[in-house]
Formats: sequence, C-alpha cells, structure tokens
Amino acid sequence: MKLATVILAAGLGTRMKSDLPKVLFPVAGKAMVHYALDAASALGSRETVLVVGHGADQVREEVGKKAVFVLQGEQLGTGHAVLQAREALQGRADTVLVMYGDMPLLRAETLQRLAGQHARTGATITMVTVRSDESMGFGRILRDANGRIQGIVEEREATPEQLEIHELNCGVYCFHNDWMWEHLPRLTPSAKKGEYYLTDLVGMAVQEACTVESVTLNGIAEAVGVNTRAQLAEAERIMRGRINDRLMEEGITLVDPATAYIDADVLIGVDTIIEPNTHLKGRTRIGADCRVGPNSIIRDSEIGDRCEIVASVVELAVLETDIHVGPFSHLRPGAYLARNVHIGNYAEIKNSHLGEQVHVGHFSYIGDSEVGARSNIGAGAITCNYDGEKKNRTIIGEDAFIGSDTMLVAPVRIGDRARTGAGSVVNKDVPADTLAVGLPARVIRRLR
Ligand code: UD1
Ligand code: CA
Repeated sequence: MKLATVILAAGLGTRMKSDLPKVLFPVAGKAMVHYALDAASALGSRETVLVVGHGADQVREEVGKKAVFVLQGEQLGTGHAVLQAREALQGRADTVLVMYGDMPLLRAETLQRLAGQHARTGATITMVTVRSDESMGFGRILRDANGRIQGIVEEREATPEQLEIHELNCGVYCFHNDWMWEHLPRLTPSAKKGEYYLTDLVGMAVQEACTVESVTLNGIAEAVGVNTRAQLAEAERIMRGRINDRLMEEGITLVDPATAYIDADVLIGVDTIIEPNTHLKGRTRIGADCRVGPNSIIRDSEIGDRCEIVASVVELAVLETDIHVGPFSHLRPGAYLARNVHIGNYAEIKNSHLGEQVHVGHFSYIGDSEVGARSNIGAGAITCNYDGEKKNRTIIGEDAFIGSDTMLVAPVRIGDRARTGAGSVVNKDVPADTLAVGLPARVIRRLR
C-alpha cells in the first residue's frame, strides 16, 4: 500500500487563548504536531502534507523538513482543508490517511488497525469511531438496520433522534486516494455553518455503493483532541502515565510514578532508579544503574552509567560514568564531567571540562575552564571568568589543589600539581609544582 498523509492543523485554537498555534503546545515535552507526524511516518507514510493556516510560519519553523506544507488561507471546514493538499498528493499514493495535528493521544496501534482494515477490505473510506456517553460535540455515525454505515451527521446539524446516537466520529480516516480527490471538489457548504464538511464524503460513498468500513476504539481518551488548557493538562497526564508505564516495563524503577515527569523522547537504562519529583526533559539520555532525584531537573543532557544526581539541575551537560552530583548543584550548558568526578553541594559548572576524579566539594563556580584529572577545587573557589567585556578561560592542570576561597582571575593557568593558599587571588599563571598565596597571589616557594 502506497500511503500518504494529510494532517489538518490550520485551525486557530481559539479556546487556548494564546498567540502560540495550538499544534505547537507541548505534551510531554514534544509539540503536539510531532505526534501526528511521527505516527504517520511510523505507519510508512511516504509523503505527509501539513495543512497550516493560523501561525503557519511558526508551525513551518518547528516542523521543518518533516512535512510538505500547504496553506489554507481561510478556514472553511475540514473538507476544504484536505482539498488544499490535492496538488501535492493526487496520483501519488493509493491511500490517504487524514488526521488532525491536535490528537497526541491517538495510538500507533489504532492507526495500524485502521490502515490494516482499509487494506484488507479494499474500502473506499475506513474511519475510526468510538462509543461514548459523552458526545463532546462530535459527529454521530449513522448506521442502517444491518449495522452498515450510512453517513456522519455533525452535532449542530443533527435531529433530536440522531443526537441520541452514542457512536461518534473521531476524525481519523483512510481514503482511497483517487476517489477522494475526485469527490472533494463536489462538497457543498453545510446548511447551518456553511462549512465544507469532510464527513459528507461518507454519505457520497454510500450513495455510490462504495464500501465504508470502520474500526472502533475502546475508550474515548485517544480521541479527545486538545482544544482547551484543561484538555492539554489532561493529555499531559495521560501521556505521562503511558511513558512511565513503558519505562517500568523496560526495567526502570520509578519510586513514585505520579511525580516522575519524563518527556516522550527521554531514554533511560535498566535498573536506574528515578526518585520522586524528578523532571527529565527534552533529549536527555540516562545510563543504567543510575539514581536520579529526588528533586532533580535534567534537560537535554547525557548521563552515563552509575551516576547519582541528587536535588540538582543539569542542562545541556555531558556526564561520563560513576559521577556524583549534589545535593543543590547546577550543571549548565557545556559542562563535561569525565568519569568519577564528584560535585558536592552549591556548585555551578558552566562550559567547562572536568577531568577524571576531579572533586568540587562545596560552593564553587567553575566557568569556561579546563580542570585536569584528580585536581581538587576547595570550598568557595571561583573562576572569575568575566571581566565585564568578555569571558576568559581558566586552565588548571592535573593533580592541582585549589585552596578554599581562591579567586582565579581569568585568563589564568595553574600548572600540574600546583597549590593555591586559602583566600588567594590568582591573577598570574602559577607554574607547575609551586605554591602561590596572598592577594594578589605570589609564588613563595617550590613544592618539590
Ligand atoms: C470534526 C468532524 C466531526 C468529528 C470531530 C472529531 C467534520 C465536519 N467534523 O469536527 O465529525 O467528530 O472532528 O474531532 O469534519 N481544521 C482545519 N481547517 C478548517 C477546519 C478545521 O485545518 O477549515 C482542523 C482544525 O485545526 C482541527 C481539525 O481540523 O485540528 C478538526 O477541526 P474541528 O473544527 O475541531 O472539528 P469539527 O469540524 O468540529
Ligand atoms: Ca477539535
């Protein structure tokens, strides 16, 4: 089956009351539109067209090369929206999957069922329906006495009897490609709203004695689109539950899943323990046998095996293996920690490379620096990396000992095995194997 996809994302999302296009709101750290795009590509869609309108430029920027864009200038209904993709797709597939950019909870398995049923039956249209006591304003599925689908009627156009129908249209379909492009231009504006309803294609297909098939969802959760901030929060909660269930199945311990906030694309190795109130965001990767939290926030970082990060914030940092951080430390962008590094409390590391077994025990700021293996940074030592105009580098050799409260006024170099005295203000290079003290620090003697 040659599959193409049309994702509708032109609507304003009025009820979000936001300048951000609705499909760009994140759910579990990922903009909603990516869920639709990823689902389409997982299904083997060769070409995916995104119909954009409100906030088109912002959506384009976020999605980039993952889709072809067509603009729907005026939102004249779902039928009109799909029609905008005709030039891009007519004659280029057997089947077109149509779905919305604001249904992040729709499962890949559901789409597989839909596409499978469509291929097996050779239907002209196959759609996803759901049985629910709550109508949510959805279209009602009309069936004849034999259970065959006759059409879809929108809630606002429905008769009181039709309103009693509990089978609803989810808005996700597979269409026979050529048939759809042939029939879309024949839609006429609806009676009440004057919109071109994609759903009217179902009635047309029935009239032409074409086959219309359906797959039915068990629960409503998958079908609920995100139209309000409350639905966004609900989608977030459900998605988080799914992510956490998957991780536990994969062999990761979540001490309290209710307070483990883990984004959709985060990877975690087996036997890692996630303590309560831990936030793992973006493209974070965590190795095996780690312990993270309680109260840690890790964003877009790589953490190796056997690391422990207690009550700390880690952003865009790389940690090798067997590293301890925290409590209450902050690893900022560009921090690279080689194996066996120890970071204690109230330390901040930015844009710096720390060699193996470096110790930064207490109250330190290390910025724009290179610290050689096994060096010890005493309590309160600080790299004064900013001179008011530019950032300067500090280079510390191997096996150095930076005394408590040392100010390293960059640019400056501390040689291998050198030591600085407590409270020294170092504004000149300190050669290897020497001891420097004072304000400004001066070398007083050779050490060996
Ligand atoms: C539509 C279906 C309804 C179904 C419901 C499920 C029609 C006529 N009705 O309802 O049977 O139960 O979805 O959610 O199709 N959009 C555009 N351009 C437009 C109009 C809509 O891109 O001109 C997009 C919206 O951004 C949204 C999606 O299409 O993502 C659905 O639009 P919405 O107005 O929510 O659906 P309804 O027409 O109310
Ligand atoms: Ca909707």
